[in-house]
Amino acid sequence: MIPSYANFGGKIHGGILLSLMDKVAFAAASKHSGAYCVTVSVDTVDFLQPVAVGDLVSMKASVNYVGNSSMVIGIKVIAEDVKSGSVTHTNTCYFTMVAKGEDDKPMKVPKLILENKTDVRRFVEAIFRKKLKKDHVEKMEAMKKGWGKEEMSKLLENERCIIQS
Ligand SMILES: CC(C)(COP(=O)(O)OP(=O)(O)OC[C@H]1O[C@@H](n2cnc3c(N)ncnc32)[C@H](O)[C@@H]1OP(=O)(O)O)[C@@H](O)C(=O)NCCC(=O)NCCS
Repeated sequence: MIPSYANFGGKIHGGILLSLMDKVAFAAASKHSGAYCVTVSVDTVDFLQPVAVGDLVSMKASVNYVGNSSMVIGIKVIAEDVKSGSVTHTNTCYFTMVAKGEDDKPMKVPKLILENKTDVRRFVEAIFRKKLKKDHVEKMEAMKKGWGKEEMSKLLENERCIIQS
């Protein structure tokens, strides 16, 4: 991680890591599909540990799931202090990529061969995550429908905000 990647606090900018992860996800998805791929969605990006200038960052990726045109790429990010040898797992996240055909439309990608128990677990977990995301969207919509002015005022009573309108 070179100095120009740093933020004002002297640590590596989260956006730099995201951009690198996006490229890694593209590489994995395009290799699996043999096609040009686009990023559709990124799940659970939590930067739990800062990455320092000079750290050697490794990103391990695997194609965890395939649908028709979509692929979920799991990426594990590891930062190593090369002097001390200490290794930190900074985050794991999941990119959903879609393969596009010559007509620029989503195209069918090859099935995923699950070679071992880990592959099976990752595939199943991706299905769970997909379902949870769908449930979350539906619950959010249902919650928003239930919002009246009174409910909103009550909800914000103990929050750290000032309503000016
Ligand atoms: C990705 C894109 C082609 C999907 O187009 P679409 O008309 O919604 O096509 P579909 O409904 O057939 O969806 C295609 C696949 O994307 C998946 N998908 C769509 N929206 C999604 C989302 N928010 N999260 C996860 N997957 C999603 C669908 O489930 C489907 O998967 P499947 O083929 O495996 O079943 C379109 O949204 C797009 O081009 N987005 C811009 C991508 C881009 O430019 N990214 C760079 C960042 S700017």
